[in-house]
Amino acid sequence: MLSLFPNLFLFLSLLIGLCNCRVQTLNTNPTHFNPQVPPLRTLSSSKRFEGSSEFVKLKYHMGPVLSSPINIYLIWYGKWPQSQKLLIKDFLNSISDHRAAPSPSVSDWWRTVSLYTDQTGANISRSVSIAGEYSDLRYSHGTHLTRLSVQEVIATAVQAKPFPVDHRNGIYLILTAEDVTMEDFCRAVCGFHYFTFPSKVGYTLPYAWVGNSGKQCPEVCAYPFAVPGYMGGGGPGHLTPPNGDVGVDGMVSVIGHELAELSSNPLVNAWYAGEDPTAPTEIGDLCEGLYGTGGGGGYIGSVMKDGEGRTFNLNGRNGRKFLVQWIWSPVLKACAGPNALD
Ligand SMILES: *[C@@H]1O[C@H](CO)[C@@H](O)[C@H](O)[C@H]1NC(C)=O
Repeated sequence: MLSLFPNLFLFLSLLIGLCNCRVQTLNTNPTHFNPQVPPLRTLSSSKRFEGSSEFVKLKYHMGPVLSSPINIYLIWYGKWPQSQKLLIKDFLNSISDHRAAPSPSVSDWWRTVSLYTDQTGANISRSVSIAGEYSDLRYSHGTHLTRLSVQEVIATAVQAKPFPVDHRNGIYLILTAEDVTMEDFCRAVCGFHYFTFPSKVGYTLPYAWVGNSGKQCPEVCAYPFAVPGYMGGGGPGHLTPPNGDVGVDGMVSVIGHELAELSSNPLVNAWYAGEDPTAPTEIGDLCEGLYGTGGGGGYIGSVMKDGEGRTFNLNGRNGRKFLVQWIWSPVLKACAGPNALD
């Protein structure tokens, strides 16, 4: 789950109202830089994971991971412009397509996720594809959803042709438009994953929900493309999104986070840290807010920016660029991403 609280640990050292951007110009195009972004919250006694692995007790709890080819069923809830759908689909279709983009690519980024195995030694699949889509244009369950009613949205979708119940390889990704509110959205979560209950949907299906925060709380869930209001939101410090869409570019990183966790912990009994399975710390949570080498302490890590100042760390198909957080590597015992400088 992408909760807001792990974010806090990143922001211990802050310079009020200043973007103390350190711009390093390498002799390459695009430019690498490691921006310091005003923090989400000031209060934190929380731990930071990226430097040290001593305190991270990520454990395998013997449950399954998504080791067979992953079929994503997309549910577009509410009104979604075609351009926004294409942006998200380009990201998802970049995961498996290792020839579609130069390094560091989305496909290289998923390699870290595929290092997780189950008790039979099977790795998480590197094959991820969009197997079906459903548009719930009429907000079948209203414009406010809850953790339970989102399961009814899935039930509605699987009951509609041509959307199959794929209980072998399917995961269901519910994406809500910017006018849809969700229980705890913006306050405690930007996205979450879980599985459906047979009593609601007829099957146990792993799913994730991610909302477009563009109108509701970009400074929370589309960070670092918007910064908290008390810092003069949208002022110095925020980064320019790679595709010019604060809400959806922000969603892409949350979708990546949730897919990584859904794949490594689909039934919430596989890979997580902490003793409490109702509040697990998962492989995305451990690296929240970290996008490159040298991140932490208010810095997001070394990422790239193009000639127009758009910030990114991954290349995708169709020439797309994305900014996606790093993932905890079970091999390195540290956060990892393909744009690492070392
Ligand atoms: C599977 O995971 C193991 C352990 O993390 C790793 O060493 C291996 O390279 C992975 N295999 C593939 C095919 O990704």
